[in-house]
Amino acid sequence: MKTATTAATVLAICNLAAASSHFKRQNDTGVGLAYSPPYYPSPWMDPEAEGWQEAYAQAKAFVSDLTLLEKVNLTTGTGWMADLCVGNVGSIPRVGWRGLCLQDGPQGIRFADYVSYFTSSQLAGATWNRDLIRDRARAMALEARDKGIDVLLAPAVGPLGRFPTGGRNWEGFSPDPYLAGVAAAESVKGIQETGVIATIKHLIMNEQEHFRERGNGISYGYSVVEAISSNVDDKTMHELYLWPFADAIRAGAGSVMCSYQQVNNSYGCQNSAVLNHLLKEELGFQGFVLSDWAAQHTGVAAAVAGLDMSMPGDVTFNSRTSYWGANLTNAVLNGTVPEYRIDDMAMRIMAAFFKVGRTIEDAPEINFSSWTRDSDGPVHWAAKEGVQTINQHIDVRRDHGDLIRRIAAQGTVLLKNEGSLPLNKPKFVAVIGEDAGSRVGGPNGCPNQGCNSGTLAAGWGSGTASFPYLITPDAALQRKAVEDGTRYESILSNWEHELTASLVGEPDATALVFVNANSGEGFIEVDGNVGDRNNLTLWNGGDDLIEIVAAHNPNTIIIIHSTGPVVVSEWYDNPNITAILWAGLPGQESGNAITDILYGRVNPGGKTPFTWGASEESYGVKIVYEPNNGDDAPQGDFDDGIFIDYRWFDSQDDEPIFEFGFGLSYTTFEFSDIRVERSNASEYKPNTGESIPAPRIGANHSSDYTDYVFPEGFRRIDQFIYPYLNSTDPKQTLGDRFYGDEAEDFLPPGATDDSRRPAHPAGGGPGGNPQLWDVMYTVFATVTNTGSVVGEEVAQLYVSLGGPDDPAKVLRGFERIRIDPGTSETFRADITRRDLSNWDTVSQNWVISDCPKSIYVGNSSRNLPLHAALQ
Ligand SMILES: *[C@@H]1O[C@H](CO)[C@@H](O)[C@H](O)[C@H]1NC(C)=O
Ligand SMILES: *[C@@H]1O[C@H](CO)[C@@H](O)[C@H](O)[C@H]1NC(C)=O
Ligand SMILES: *[C@@H]1O[C@H](CO)[C@@H](O)[C@H](O)[C@H]1NC(C)=O
Ligand SMILES: *[C@@H]1O[C@H](CO)[C@@H](O)[C@H](O)[C@H]1NC(C)=O
Ligand SMILES: *[C@@H]1O[C@H](CO)[C@@H](O)[C@H](O)[C@H]1NC(C)=O
Ligand SMILES: *[C@@H]1O[C@H](CO)[C@@H](O)[C@H](O)[C@H]1NC(C)=O
Ligand SMILES: *[C@@H]1O[C@H](CO)[C@@H](O)[C@H](O)[C@H]1NC(C)=O
Ligand SMILES: *[C@@H]1O[C@H](CO)[C@@H](O)[C@H](O)[C@H]1NC(C)=O
Ligand SMILES: *[C@@H]1O[C@H](CO)[C@@H](O)[C@H](O)[C@H]1NC(C)=O
Ligand SMILES: *[C@@H]1O[C@H](CO)[C@@H](O)[C@H](O)[C@H]1NC(C)=O
Repeated sequence: MKTATTAATVLAICNLAAASSHFKRQNDTGVGLAYSPPYYPSPWMDPEAEGWQEAYAQAKAFVSDLTLLEKVNLTTGTGWMADLCVGNVGSIPRVGWRGLCLQDGPQGIRFADYVSYFTSSQLAGATWNRDLIRDRARAMALEARDKGIDVLLAPAVGPLGRFPTGGRNWEGFSPDPYLAGVAAAESVKGIQETGVIATIKHLIMNEQEHFRERGNGISYGYSVVEAISSNVDDKTMHELYLWPFADAIRAGAGSVMCSYQQVNNSYGCQNSAVLNHLLKEELGFQGFVLSDWAAQHTGVAAAVAGLDMSMPGDVTFNSRTSYWGANLTNAVLNGTVPEYRIDDMAMRIMAAFFKVGRTIEDAPEINFSSWTRDSDGPVHWAAKEGVQTINQHIDVRRDHGDLIRRIAAQGTVLLKNEGSLPLNKPKFVAVIGEDAGSRVGGPNGCPNQGCNSGTLAAGWGSGTASFPYLITPDAALQRKAVEDGTRYESILSNWEHELTASLVGEPDATALVFVNANSGEGFIEVDGNVGDRNNLTLWNGGDDLIEIVAAHNPNTIIIIHSTGPVVVSEWYDNPNITAILWAGLPGQESGNAITDILYGRVNPGGKTPFTWGASEESYGVKIVYEPNNGDDAPQGDFDDGIFIDYRWFDSQDDEPIFEFGFGLSYTTFEFSDIRVERSNASEYKPNTGESIPAPRIGANHSSDYTDYVFPEGFRRIDQFIYPYLNSTDPKQTLGDRFYGDEAEDFLPPGATDDSRRPAHPAGGGPGGNPQLWDVMYTVFATVTNTGSVVGEEVAQLYVSLGGPDDPAKVLRGFERIRIDPGTSETFRADITRRDLSNWDTVSQNWVISDCPKSIYVGNSSRNLPLHAALQ
């Protein structure tokens, strides 16, 4: 494992890579289900880890002084709706610390008022604009900070987007791991520079909503209890799904959320191969792992498998019991969970806290409640206790509306334009479709956005916020029309076919048709869609509406609000359809942003962050909508390996309608003069050496059970999760086993080992071996604006790794460049060692194969006029 890769092994890699790149059942009987190998012990923090030294020292000073009960308090949520935030850990009253407030989510602050509603992450991804992505995250985190939030449960790169119908794809950036990784890293930096801890989630392969959770009432009408297992081979794990997590961790992410579903038939929040081996050993993650809400299913097993924080703390919402809390205290006292493990949990949590610049002294006040908009009410909502002012209704929005408008406009993708855009004082604009108008019941009228009516500006689920206002396309376009002296009429329904046909059939009508397709999180069902979409077509009769308008109007412009691709095959090439735009989920400034684009105030420069196939079948994958393993856990075999999205279409030689990376502008660009400079990167050395032995932080605790029972006269809040024991008899704490099938006493071999651990060859720093980011080549190309207006082009660099089982090409660089008409700018992209490597399952390391490698530069995954070979 620790020998340097020799020339001979390099030669063999081309073939090795081919042999192990798809997940295969062990045999064809269906018996040999995927299996996740054990990795113990759970790696403890490294005091010398890059970027964490100071945080480690501060955490050590703080944690050294804590009692066992206080450490346990840090690790365990106080229960669902027990406190003000969506997640809260216990406080440490002795030092005057209020604990932590954790809050969703990636499109804005959930369950709070006077906050901004940002664009979806997916639309931010479509900007391909690093600065804007970072600004978005920073702005969101500033709002979070001012409400008193310590941990913002964002960004998401899982789901990555294997399924085009995946319900939560809009919470992430793109199914391309490189784009997702860059965007996640920028988001982590943007969030953490405000003093808020970022959470990269959901680790890992949480690609579908169906069957994601262990039986909790949502069994989709089946008797299946266990959650689905995402089964994936080691190479695909590294080259695809883990890739963007590595970027986020390298960027310093303070926390990671583990996922609901299983990986190789082991739950995400107790999977030692994922948490101990991949995350903490290989990626050198120094922060803390928190469970998705009620995704924890064991106490001791989760603790030794690498979980650091239980959210929201109770076994199931409001169960009054916890796998941790008193059970964790008990498990440390009875010697099952090693003491260094609880020390390490506390260290990881506090190190993340100090790393982002927080201090114990000035913990900001939490001035909102997730559970009501009333000003006064119970702090402890579930218990209905502690009535006081809980909502100060602080407006934290600043001027973020301008930023949101810019992101939404920059992310909007012009998919087709036969010259009808930009609009210039048109004589008559007819706006058609319910998706252009407001929602009966108001923009916040459906809890967690769990409906689809009115203009679609946000998906549904926990990744939602509250609109401070929602500019509809109808409102903004009408204002613009009135300004211009344009006649304006809108029919904000999809079902007024006759009226619509007659209106758009009038002479000189420019018809703007707004259509949508929605999705969200699996705890809400909308129109029969349990989170994931049931199909790839438009909702609410959108295709019929388009057909009717286009049959009567020769200048029909389609605007799509959606959470991913839709099938446009039936109508995209209709000559009466003169333009098509994808506007994603634009958030509160929806109407303003689309008006900016339609009228050319902003020249479109967004590029589609996913592929638009001709049909749903053309993607080659399908969500597991029905049980496929009897009453046992459904099995999701990721047998497409690394071939998702454009890599799949390339491998099938299938022409998509609009390819990944594609997007038009009101000007034109040309690419020329590719130049490659080779850097003098040093030779790659596998990480070697050993860790320190597991450190004990603080004094030994007493082993007298009477020190851990509820203090005399302690007033307990109903339903609250505490670290204290009920009684000095441990049986009292353990209570009735919840599921009856957990072997809580069984500790896997090595689980309590505290001796030095050998280094992981691909490890050595947060994100992995630092040498993976060595620059091997720098590519230059000239981009010229050959049109007559200023525009922004996203220059894209793709690499062909050249192996028999490699994708035809993979994205490995991009830059959004503003270019004046008639002038040129230079595109520059660094290619790192990681960018050129394959994962070698034998040496458990990244290896540059000797297969011939070439690079391509252009403005989409299928328009790559420049190429060069890499020497
Ligand atoms: C298939 O795999 C299972 C589990 O590993 C094993 O018990 C069974 O014997 C195998 N069957 C065949 C035909 O190899
Ligand atoms: C899952 O199983 C596959 C196939 O045996 C293996 O390559 C991979 O490393 C396993 N991954 C995890 C996380 O258990
Ligand atoms: C643990 O947290 C709870 C809730 O904040 C608090 O009441 C209790 O005093 C804390 N216990 C310790 C030992 O700090
Ligand atoms: C301890 O955990 C078990 C499940 O393993 C649960 O049944 C019991 O209620 C828990 N005890 C407490 C005090 O939460
Ligand atoms: C130790 O405590 C844990 C948590 O309450 C419990 O699950 C486990 O069964 C206990 N083991 C022993 C040997 O007492
Ligand atoms: C609201 O909370 C923030 C962050 O703690 C704090 O700065 C601000 O003063 C609070 N606002 C009020 C009115 O208390
Ligand atoms: C696809 O799903 C949407 C939303 O449920 C529905 O409106 C539409 O009719 C469905 N399409 C087809 C072809 O069934
Ligand atoms: C295009 O619109 C005209 C009306 O302006 C209509 O006569 C014609 O049939 C339409 N063409 C198509 C392909 O729908
Ligand atoms: C590359 O670096 C090595 C070691 O640092 C040095 O010996 C060599 O001269 C360098 N080569 C070039 C072309 O700069
Ligand atoms: C602990 O004591 C409380 C109060 O008497 C009781 O409600 C609870 O059920 C007890 N828990 C266990 C696990 O015995």
